[in-house]
Amino acid sequence: MKELGVGIIGTGWVSGEYIRAFELNPHTEVRGMVSRDRARAQAKAEAFHATHCRAYGRLEEMLADSSIQIVVICTPHHLHVAQGVAAAQAGKHLVLEKPIALDIEGLRKLQAAVRAAKVKTVVSFVLRWNPLFEMIKTFLADGLLGNLFLAEVDYFHGIGPWYGQYEWNIKKEMGGSSLLTAGCHAVDGLRWFVSSKPVEVCAFGNFSRQNPLRYEYEPNSLTMVKFEDGTIGKVASSIECVQPYIFNVELFGDQGTVRNNQIFSKHWTGQKGWATFPTVLPDSGDVTHHPFSDEVRHFVDCILGNRESHANLEDAVVTHEICFASELSAREGRPVKLPL
Ligand SMILES: NC(=O)c1ccc[n+]([C@@H]2O[C@H](COP(=O)([O-])OP(=O)(O)OC[C@H]3O[C@@H](n4cnc5c(N)ncnc54)[C@H](O)[C@@H]3O)[C@@H](O)[C@H]2O)c1
Repeated sequence: MKELGVGIIGTGWVSGEYIRAFELNPHTEVRGMVSRDRARAQAKAEAFHATHCRAYGRLEEMLADSSIQIVVICTPHHLHVAQGVAAAQAGKHLVLEKPIALDIEGLRKLQAAVRAAKVKTVVSFVLRWNPLFEMIKTFLADGLLGNLFLAEVDYFHGIGPWYGQYEWNIKKEMGGSSLLTAGCHAVDGLRWFVSSKPVEVCAFGNFSRQNPLRYEYEPNSLTMVKFEDGTIGKVASSIECVQPYIFNVELFGDQGTVRNNQIFSKHWTGQKGWATFPTVLPDSGDVTHHPFSDEVRHFVDCILGNRESHANLEDAVVTHEICFASELSAREGRPVKLPL
């Protein structure tokens, strides 16, 4: 029997990637799945060959299973706070899908429950384990870009009826906002690269003229962030754009610049044009393309080594505060200071 048992809430698209990742990890196995329809949990576990998994129809039953130490929350957004609080109070370590909360009150509730329970957390800003992200972090650490002064990270992904979560995602009370539902990956990327405290946010949002995808909230937003060290950042997010998926990273430093998989640096005497480096771009919305196994490996190491993840709940709170501030700024037509 492996050291750690995993329970998964939600049996949708992303849950399959967690089954795969935790079954692959030498220290973990999936021991529970919960769905409102117990048969669906059973079928999902069987389809992904999780042979040690029991199906549950109620969350409380799964949380009472003492062979489960880690709980993964991959349900629609409006359920994340209540499920996260319940799992933390049951003493489980948490993998939280983004967004972890849809408003500041929910965020504070979750934060309080996790602090009180002293459980470990990771929030699935899974691109932190994407090879392009990893390479850029190495360039930054090696000083190839020097000190950043300007950073742009953008999320362009048309989420329509061809996408599993679309039916619930278009609703304001379930999807949240363009940033909360998906653009938060870009906000988190901006913070991850800039590595400074965000202090002010200014934003606009809109609908396209016809709103063909029937979003109840503005599916497009432009957010500007000022950081404590003087760096300024921009995140454009569109979930109704008509184009293939693009995740854009442009970082400007006093020693060089990165544009996705291209780099120019003063440190390389004689460089006369962009150098292209081979990597994996974060250029797909398909969850099978995302590095969930690396995120899971990192989190299991954190639990076994009694360390906090760099992507823990406390860190994700800052990303979410930018998202909330962006919505507030766009609605009230004014800059918003952080922290909220
Ligand atoms: N980190 C990433 O890169 C990434 C990628 C895609 C989705 N996600 C996130 O993962 C989460 C799930 O997304 P998905 O694409 O798997 O969605 P999905 O619609 O495929 O799955 C949602 C699951 O929740 C269940 N559910 C729905 N309403 C429920 C309720 N009231 N109570 C209990 N269960 C309920 C559904 O039956 C389904 O099993 C979301 O938070 C989404 O934003 C993250």
